[in-house]
Amino acid sequence: MTDVIVQAKGLAKRFPVGGSTFRKPRLLHAVDGVDLTVNEGETFAIVGESGCGKSTLARLLMRLLTPTEGQITIDGRDMSTVTGPDLRALRRDVQFIFQDPFSSLNPRLSVARLVGEPLEAHRPEMRAADRRSEVARLLRQVGLRPEHMDRYPHEFSGGQRQRIGIARALASGPKVLIGDEPVSALDVSVQAQVVNLLSDLRDQLGLTLIVIAHDLAVIRQMSDRVAVMYLGRIVETGPTDAIFDHPRHPYTRALLSAIPGPEGGTEKLALSGETPSPMDPPSGCHFRTRCPFAESRCADGRPPLEETGTGTSVACIRWREIAPDDAEPPAPAPRTQGAMQRFDMYRRALAAQDKKNDTRQEVTK
Ligand SMILES: Nc1ncnc2c1ncn2[C@@H]1O[C@H](COP(=O)(O)OP(=O)(O)O)[C@@H](O)[C@H]1O
Ligand SMILES: [Mg+2]
Repeated sequence: MTDVIVQAKGLAKRFPVGGSTFRKPRLLHAVDGVDLTVNEGETFAIVGESGCGKSTLARLLMRLLTPTEGQITIDGRDMSTVTGPDLRALRRDVQFIFQDPFSSLNPRLSVARLVGEPLEAHRPEMRAADRRSEVARLLRQVGLRPEHMDRYPHEFSGGQRQRIGIARALASGPKVLIGDEPVSALDVSVQAQVVNLLSDLRDQLGLTLIVIAHDLAVIRQMSDRVAVMYLGRIVETGPTDAIFDHPRHPYTRALLSAIPGPEGGTEKLALSGETPSPMDPPSGCHFRTRCPFAESRCADGRPPLEETGTGTSVACIRWREIAPDDAEPPAPAPRTQGAMQRFDMYRRALAAQDKKNDTRQEVTK
């Protein structure tokens, strides 16, 4: 039996926008009724186009935002509306890795202070000398040299700064790490190193990772399960391999077909029109206005997430007709191999670099 660590039920966040003394604000449906279950020790990925609500969902799970509706359970405790000490306990258990290692670290603080701060907050009883050795241990854990703890963020490369951010996140001894695009600001060669570091830390420390990424190669490389979001809703979810090999939802199929191939080109499953505004989403299925398979009944009601029998769930009333079980894998499948090849390339580059770094892990200016 796997243990559930993070669970969301009917989670919604609506932002009021454009209100004034004379006018009621309109509501922007950033997250629109999300159910999800994350198992202890797994890497769960959230993917979807910019603006579909990924960051809002992550902030809800961290309780940096309070949900408009729905429930969040962390490790069996209802965290939907907690405040004060309970919220502090949640902050210890669920930590965040920021996207941009350049702006997320205060440039005026040394690494010792940056990593020491959360230790001070979460373990105030710790003596200064012990804190220093704990900082050293955390730095080693993320592949940095403890001798560098008195240096400042600008003395480190992007990848190294992201490691500092991860050490900071680990300081409170969290159970869950949430990364909102944790590698997308880094060079491609460095991305694979940080992805590997996160996966190793997960295994060593028994962490659970929730990763938001728009790079499908990163998702395929590191996640066990994935949820695909469109306009605030999960449209398809399941084991990463099953989703990548047999995407059922027309949106997932379009998304996967946009992975660059080995030859560098991209091929898009034709979607008509623009993503509608989350202030005025289409009735019924949110995707129907761009879906090549839409029928009039798709406007009628919200399509439920239905189990497909292959471990995945899909929110499309036509999934059986448009991608039957015995069908050939849909055209996008070979494209995902392109992504895998790209990652094999990263891995080889990484192995070569690791060899070089064995002897000198210098601080780059
Ligand atoms: N604080 C806010 N106030 C109003 N609208 C917001 C706020 N935060 C996010 N949004 C809107 O919610 C939608 C989802 O945003 P976001 O969660 O950042 O998406 P993603 O991370 O997938 O790009 C977007 O339309 C965005 O403009
Ligand atoms: Mg975002």
